[in-house]
Amino acid sequence: MLTTPWLLLSLAVPLLGSHASFSCPNEKQCQKALLSDNDIFLPCNTSGAQWYFFFLQDKTSWSNKVSSVSNIEIIPEIGILIRNPLPSQTGFYHCRDKDGVQVVQYEIDFQDVSTLHITHKGLGQKPLPNETLSLGGKELIFTQWEPWQDCNRCGEPGERKRLGYCYIEEPLQEPMPCWLYLGHLKLWSSRLQPEMQVEACQVPCKISTLDFVAFDNFEIHEDSGSVWLTCPMGSIYRPILWEVNDIPLTWQGQLSNQDLSTILEPTNGGRQLRVFEPAIYKCFVKQELVACFNPKPFPDVPETLRQREAGPQQESREAWKGKARSILKGLKLLLLVGIVLGLLAQLLKLFHPSQDKRSDQVLLVK
Ligand SMILES: *[C@@H]1O[C@H](CO)[C@@H](O)[C@H](O)[C@H]1NC(C)=O
Ligand SMILES: *[C@@H]1O[C@H](CO)[C@@H](O)[C@H](O)[C@H]1NC(C)=O
Repeated sequence: MLTTPWLLLSLAVPLLGSHASFSCPNEKQCQKALLSDNDIFLPCNTSGAQWYFFFLQDKTSWSNKVSSVSNIEIIPEIGILIRNPLPSQTGFYHCRDKDGVQVVQYEIDFQDVSTLHITHKGLGQKPLPNETLSLGGKELIFTQWEPWQDCNRCGEPGERKRLGYCYIEEPLQEPMPCWLYLGHLKLWSSRLQPEMQVEACQVPCKISTLDFVAFDNFEIHEDSGSVWLTCPMGSIYRPILWEVNDIPLTWQGQLSNQDLSTILEPTNGGRQLRVFEPAIYKCFVKQELVACFNPKPFPDVPETLRQREAGPQQESREAWKGKARSILKGLKLLLLVGIVLGLLAQLLKLFHPSQDKRSDQVLLVK
């Protein structure tokens, strides 16, 4: 019961567009660098689609069906969802229609997010410089930057990030994502890294379009002294903001070791936050509130989880409900205490009738 909203959310996910997705518009083939460990949706709009893969590293054969891979989910008619892709899943993904005709081919380089090189402009940190590949000496390794993502906050100073992928360029050739270029060659260079760059930003607010907010409780685990919170619609490919008691967390604070009470997980762009203290944690995706995490009041209260329409009224209604619930709990407790006291009084009367009489007698004597 308590996990139902999450379940519904995750089932509806590709339709809601809560997973990052990309498509090759009007193209049958496209090449793309992405990051490992971050879910991605590959569309193929055809009925009875058949998916095949070819992983460069293992030189697998083309006859491999995607359905044999545990972290790939086929969503009929619309595409595939790859959960936590591995760098070793770099390769070709082929979608054919029911007659076996190719609809689209994706050539994907899942670059290893554990080697993500993070820099912040505000801290004067520089991205990686260009380098030549040690093999032939003619190939250039460089970072191909994606556009800046939107600012993660509006109306007030925020931050924005952009992802940069490792590319290799040969003279007079189109650059290629590094591991698609290298294929099964096991070459190691410290320059072969994806990047993330962060900078400060400030933009005006637009009208909200999102229509639900998830509410969840959390508890700090006794053994680790912390807990991971996950922002439901968050992705490294989208702007994310976390607030602690309404104070925003920044990459600048984390990268300069100022925010020590929380940790934004770098490998998923801050989709997950590690917290050590009870507080109200809120997360925003594309500047809109998507989830609110409250500390659990009592260890034995069952987890409550609700999906509510967004907006301050709903939030205050939620808070009011919480208050009403605790008042009701208090009243029940009072009633119980009253009943117990009443019973006790009756019992006392039953077993010590003489005391009452004695006191009467004393009174009479006086
Ligand atoms: C899939 O293709 C059909 C027909 O080409 C189109 O009507 C439909 O909108 C497409 N669906 C999506 C999700 O793109
Ligand atoms: C690095 O190489 C890329 C691709 O050739 C080029 O666009 C970029 O300007 C280079 N950067 C520097 C700092 O030389």
